[in-house]
Amino acid sequence: MELGEQQIDGEHAAQIRLLDTFEEKLKGSQAKDDLVIVLDRLVEFTNLHFMSEEMLMQQHAYPALGLHVKEHDHLLDQVRVMQDAFNCGDQTMTAAELVTLRDWLMNHIRTKDRAFTLYLEERKREEE
Ligand SMILES: [Fe+2]
Ligand SMILES: [Fe+2]
Repeated sequence: MELGEQQIDGEHAAQIRLLDTFEEKLKGSQAKDDLVIVLDRLVEFTNLHFMSEEMLMQQHAYPALGLHVKEHDHLLDQVRVMQDAFNCGDQTMTAAELVTLRDWLMNHIRTKDRAFTLYLEERKREEE
C-alpha cells in the first residue's frame, strides 16, 4: 500500500512489519518476554510515526491536521486497549484487539494518510 511519499511509506512498512511480527509471536508459543519486546517496539514506533506525520502536516499547513490527530489518538487508544489485554495475560482478547487495530490502521492509511499524501503532491505541483 504505497502512497508515494518515501518517508511515510517506509514508516508504514515498518509499522505493519511490527504488527505482523507481534501477531506471529502471539500465535506461536513464544516466551512472554519476547512478546513484550515486540509490543513495546510497536507502541514506540507507532507513537514516533504519528508524531512524524503530524510534524510534516504542520510544516505544510495541512488543513485537516486536527481531524487527523484525533484519528491518531483514537488508534493509540486502541493500542492501549490491546496492551491492557496483553498485560492481563488474555491471549484471545489480545489477538481480537490486534485484529481491530490492524483494521483501523489499514483503513487509516488507505483513507486519511492517502488524503494527506495527495495534498502533499498537490502542493509540490503548485510550487513547481
Ligand atoms: Fe500513517
Ligand atoms: Fe496518519
